[in-house]
Amino acid sequence: MKSFSKKIIITGGAGFIGSHVVRRFVKKYPDYKIINLDKLTYAGNLENLKDIENEDNYYFVKGDITEETFVNELFRKEQPDGVIHLAAESHVDRSISSPMEFVKTNVLGTVNLLNAAKIIWKNDFSNKLFHHVSTDEVYGALGETGFFTEKTSYDPHSPYSASKASSDHFVRSYADTYGLPTVITNCSNNYGPNHFPEKLIPLMIHNIINKKPLPVYGDGNYTRDWLYVIDHAIAIDLVFHKGRLDNSYNIGGFNEWKNIDLVKLLCRQMDKKLNREPGESEKLIAFVKDRPGHDLRYAIDASKIHEELGWKPSVTFEEGLGKTIDWYLENEKWLKNVTSGAYQEYYKKQYV
Ligand code: NAD
Ligand code: DAU
Repeated sequence: MKSFSKKIIITGGAGFIGSHVVRRFVKKYPDYKIINLDKLTYAGNLENLKDIENEDNYYFVKGDITEETFVNELFRKEQPDGVIHLAAESHVDRSISSPMEFVKTNVLGTVNLLNAAKIIWKNDFSNKLFHHVSTDEVYGALGETGFFTEKTSYDPHSPYSASKASSDHFVRSYADTYGLPTVITNCSNNYGPNHFPEKLIPLMIHNIINKKPLPVYGDGNYTRDWLYVIDHAIAIDLVFHKGRLDNSYNIGGFNEWKNIDLVKLLCRQMDKKLNREPGESEKLIAFVKDRPGHDLRYAIDASKIHEELGWKPSVTFEEGLGKTIDWYLENEKWLKNVTSGAYQEYYKKQYV
C-alpha cells in the first residue's frame, strides 16, 4: 500500500473553486493523499474532475458535512493532517429564498468539521491545519472608494454572507479556545471554467450563446472585483503551506468592474467569437428587479498575501475572460447537462 507524506480532506471539491483546488493538489503533490468530501448538491459535479479521477493519490467520498456521525467517522478513519474547507451553499440569491440551507451547511457543517479535527488532533497539533475558505462578502459593502483589508470589521448583509461570517467566527473561536491551528482566506468574486451558470459571468455566457435576455439587476452599477479561479487555487496552496497560523489573508483580483460594463464586455467578446454582428448581443440586455440588500461594491486590498507570500494574479482579466469564454464554447455538453432539469425550475422562479 502506498504511503503518503500528508493526508488532506478537501470539502466541496466537486464544486467550482474546489475542483480547481483538488486538481492542483492532486497533480502538484503526488505524495499527498487528497480526499474530496462532497455531497454533490446541484452545484457539485464529478464531471469537473474527470481528468484526475483515476490518479492514485485522489479519493472521492460522497457525504454531507452537516452529518456529525459521518464526519467524525471519516476523520477517525482517514486521520487527515489538513483540512481545506470549501463546501458551502454559495449563491446569494438562493440564500435570500432559502436561508436555512445556508445556516445548516455553512455554519453547522463548518462546526462539525472543526469538532472532528479537534477530536482527532487533540494531543498533537504539530503540522496540522484547518484552512477555512471564505469570502470578502463578510465585510459588507463599500461605497465608491476604499478597500477591504484583513482588519475591516465584519458587516454581512445577505443570509449567505451572514452564514459565512458566522463560520469565520467559529473558526477563530476554535483557534482561541482550543488552540486548533487555523487559517482563513477571504476572496473576491471568482470566474473561470466549471462555474455554475447561476452566477453572473457564466449565466451571461450561457444566455448570450442561446440569445436569451441578459438580466442585469437594478441599474447595473454594482461593482465586483474579479479573480481567475486558478489564481485563487494558487493562493490557497500558498496560504495552506506558508501562511501564518491563526491569520487571515484577503485574496483579490485588483480588477473592479461595474456589472453593466462587464456584461457589455462579454457581449463584445462573444459577438467576435460567435461571428455575430457587433452590438448584436448587447440588444439582449434587460434591466430587471434588483437583488434585495444588494451590496454596492466589493474591492480587496490583497497587499498582505502579496507582501508575505509573494502572491499576485498571474492572469490578466482579458486573458482569463478569453479562456473562460472559450471553455464554455468548447464544453457545450457540460453546460447542457448542468442547465437541464432543476436549473430550469430555478431559472423560472428567479427570473420569470
Ligand atoms: P460551489 O457552489 O460551486 O460549490 C460548493 C460545493 O460544496 C459543491 O460541490 C457542493 O456539492 C458542495 N456542498 C454543498 N453542501 C455540502 C454539504 N452539506 N456537504 C458536503 N458538500 C457540500 O461553490 P464555489 O463557488 O466553488 O465556492 C467554494 C467556496 O469558496 C465556498 O465556501 C464559498 O463561500 C467560497 N468563495 C466563493 C467565491 C466565488 O466567487 N465563487 C469567492 C470567495 C469565496
Ligand atoms: O465576493 C465573493 C462572492 O462572489 C462569493 O462569496 C459568492 O459565493 C459568489 O456567488 C459571488 O457573489 P456575488 O453575489 O457577488 O456573485 P453573483 O455572480 O451572484 O453576482 C455578481 C453581481 O452581478 C452582483 O452585483 C449581482 C449581479 N447579478 C447577478 C446575477 C446572477 C446580476 O445583475 N444579474 C444576475 O442574473
